[in-house]
Amino acid sequence: MSESKKIFRVGLGVCGGIAAYKAIEVLRLLQKANCEVRVAMTRHATEFVQPLTFRALTENYVLVDDYDENNPDPIAHINFSQNIDLLLIVPATANVIAKFANGIADDFLTSTYLASNAPVMIAPAMNVTMWNHAATQRNIAALRKDGVYFVEPIAGELACKTVGTGKLEDVENIADQALKLLVESRESRVERENQTLDSRLSTLDLKGESLLITVGGTREAIDPVRFISNHSSGKMGFAVAEMAAKRGVRVTVVCGVTTVSPPANVEVVRAVSAEEMFQAVMKKLPEATIFIGAAAVADYRPKNVADAKIKKTDQVTLTLELEKTPDILSNVSGNRHGNLLVVGFAAETNDVAAYAKSKMVRKNLDLVVANDITKKGAGFNSDTNIATIISRKGEIDLPLMSKRELADKILDEVIKLRQN
Ligand SMILES: Cc1cc2nc3c(=O)[nH]c(=O)nc-3n(C[C@H](O)[C@H](O)[C@H](O)COP(=O)(O)O)c2cc1C
Repeated sequence: MSESKKIFRVGLGVCGGIAAYKAIEVLRLLQKANCEVRVAMTRHATEFVQPLTFRALTENYVLVDDYDENNPDPIAHINFSQNIDLLLIVPATANVIAKFANGIADDFLTSTYLASNAPVMIAPAMNVTMWNHAATQRNIAALRKDGVYFVEPIAGELACKTVGTGKLEDVENIADQALKLLVESRESRVERENQTLDSRLSTLDLKGESLLITVGGTREAIDPVRFISNHSSGKMGFAVAEMAAKRGVRVTVVCGVTTVSPPANVEVVRAVSAEEMFQAVMKKLPEATIFIGAAAVADYRPKNVADAKIKKTDQVTLTLELEKTPDILSNVSGNRHGNLLVVGFAAETNDVAAYAKSKMVRKNLDLVVANDITKKGAGFNSDTNIATIISRKGEIDLPLMSKRELADKILDEVIKLRQN
């Protein structure tokens, strides 16, 4: 399996029908779509395809019988079922459909079905008479009612030489429908989490605080047409501003260049260059009780900004002389007043934790949020982030989460510092 981070985890259940070999193609299509796939087979499925095929393709033990002494995981049906984003059954026999519908858990796959909270998608394949049987149709109706998704079999010539409905849907369509369900389930889970977050945050636990936060990237002019900038979207800073406002904080955002709009209920001061941002921050600082530097401020700017557009010439190279911009974070922490808490971000590509800790000391910060922007799901323009929060209280490694959720965690740490 490739080293790149997989986007979804699929449990592929294979049952004992002629179409079992097609599960191999579905597995390959899901792997190509960057899914991590683990396979569970019924004992009858192994009569049609060897577990070794799936083991070789997934580089993982294939679960058939959790009582088997070679099974490496003593509670496999729980661990397997609770670490997947989708349970996909290809092909599903009439027998397994009947067991699922009635809650029978007499082998690994059926126990997994009962022990999983993941969405379930079933692609049946069987003889037309089995498919049309009242018992099968009753079981399918019961499973639909339980929230199970079906990829309907299609009409065609079946393995038993009869013609009718019961043929497994094309493997490409099965993989497409599985991926679509995975994406939809993730989106609705994020929405649910955000709703829970919203209701949790209805407590105004930061009331009385006044947050000054810088957001977005800066632009440093080269000439009237060109500038030096970075990829900052402003999403992380806006998420902090939004969550802080919801928790009762008076928020002022000093806003550089962003790809998204600021949240409601915050004051916005525009500042395009590092110098403008610095001036705006120093002006607003006396009113703040918390300062968060979430902007990606240019460290250097062109020393001489051309008055007119720099023309293309025959010269092969062009040298721009750069000079340092004001260090906003250091200036803020050097001008602390009262109880001001100063928080910085360290978006890095290497030695993230070490750099973040040295930044905390060098700039005399109370808290640093460090993230490795090369990680999938972290960094610029993404709606998610993977961060480590470092403060004098210690270090917290956080998993992949939405930027709003991370904002909430940062504010939780600010409260802890305040309580000291
Ligand atoms: C050659 C052969 C092909 C079969 N094909 C199917 C099939 O396509 N669909 C089905 O529901 N059952 C089929 N069966 C019957 C199942 O294998 C049987 O019901 C078995 O108990 C299913 O076990 P499982 O559901 O635990 O995998 C087939 C049986 C044989 C011998």
